[in-house]
Amino acid sequence: MNEMKQAVCLQNVSAGYGSITALENINLTIKKGSFTGIIGPNGGGKTTLLKIMLGLLEPWSGQVEIFGQNPKYNRRLIGYVPQAAAINRQFPISVRQVVSLGRMAGKLPIFHRYSSVDRDRVKWCLNRLDVLDLAERQIGQLSSGQWQRVLIARALAVEPALLLLDEPISGLDASASTRVYELLQELNQEMTIIMVTHDTLAISAYVRDIACINHRLHYHGEPDISPELVIQLYGCPVELIAHGVPHRVLEKHGGKS
Ligand SMILES: Nc1ncnc2c1ncn2[C@@H]1O[C@H](COP(=O)(O)OP(=O)(O)O)[C@@H](O)[C@H]1O
Ligand SMILES: [Mg+2]
Repeated sequence: MNEMKQAVCLQNVSAGYGSITALENINLTIKKGSFTGIIGPNGGGKTTLLKIMLGLLEPWSGQVEIFGQNPKYNRRLIGYVPQAAAINRQFPISVRQVVSLGRMAGKLPIFHRYSSVDRDRVKWCLNRLDVLDLAERQIGQLSSGQWQRVLIARALAVEPALLLLDEPISGLDASASTRVYELLQELNQEMTIIMVTHDTLAISAYVRDIACINHRLHYHGEPDISPELVIQLYGCPVELIAHGVPHRVLEKHGGKS
C-alpha cells in the first residue's frame, strides 16, 4: 500500500450558500505533517474552506479528499477548533463534559461509555491548555480566552491526525497565545495543522506555509508574500510578511494622514 503523503487535496472546489459564492475553483494540496496558515480578509471564505475539509459542507462542485478519502469517512481523524465567538454558550454543560465530547467523535453516542483511557486523555488535554482547574465550571462562566482554550482541548481529545483551527488565539493575551503556539508546534511533530489566523507574527514564527484565500486561492507557498499580493487580497497594504519577518507598510491610505 502507498504511504499517504497528502493530508488534504481539493480539486476545482466551488462552494457557497444559496446565491452566495464563498469559494471559487480552489485547488489546494496540503502535505502530511505541514503547519499551514490560512489568511485572507473577512468574508473571504476561510471558515467555509475548513467546513469543506471537515465534510460539514458539501461543495457545489469539485473533489475533496482527506488522507485520500472523502472527509465523511475520515472525520474521526480531524480535530476542529471552531471560531469561539460563533458558539452559543448558554447550554448547561461543564468544561470537562465539552472536552469529553471530543472522545465520541465518529462513535455512536448511545453506546459510548467513557473508558479510563478516555478520561486520562481528557485530563491530559485540560492540563495542556491550562484549564484543568476549570474542569467542573459551566462553559457559560468562562472568559473568552478560557473558552478558546477549552475548544482547543476538545479538538485534541479526538487525538486527531489533522487539526483545523479557526482563529484560535482571538481573545487570548500574548503569553497565552505563545503557549498555544508552542503547544501547536510540538503537536505538529505528530499531526498536520491548518490554522486560520490574522496574526502575522504567528505566521512568520510558527507556520511553514500559507494559503491566501479571498474567494479564490491567491497564493500557496512559503510565508513570504509580496505587497502586490497583499493589496490584491485585502484591498490595501496592511501588514506584510517578508523573509519571515513581519513589518508594517508605511504607505498611507489616500487622503488620510
Ligand atoms: N451559513 C451561511 N449562510 C449564508 N452565507 C454564509 C454562511 N456562512 C458564510 N456565509 C457567507 O460566505 C462568505 C464566506 O464566509 P466565511 O467562510 O465565513 O468567511 P471568513 O471565514 O473568511 O470570514 C461570506 O460572504 C459569508 O457572508
Ligand atoms: Mg471565519
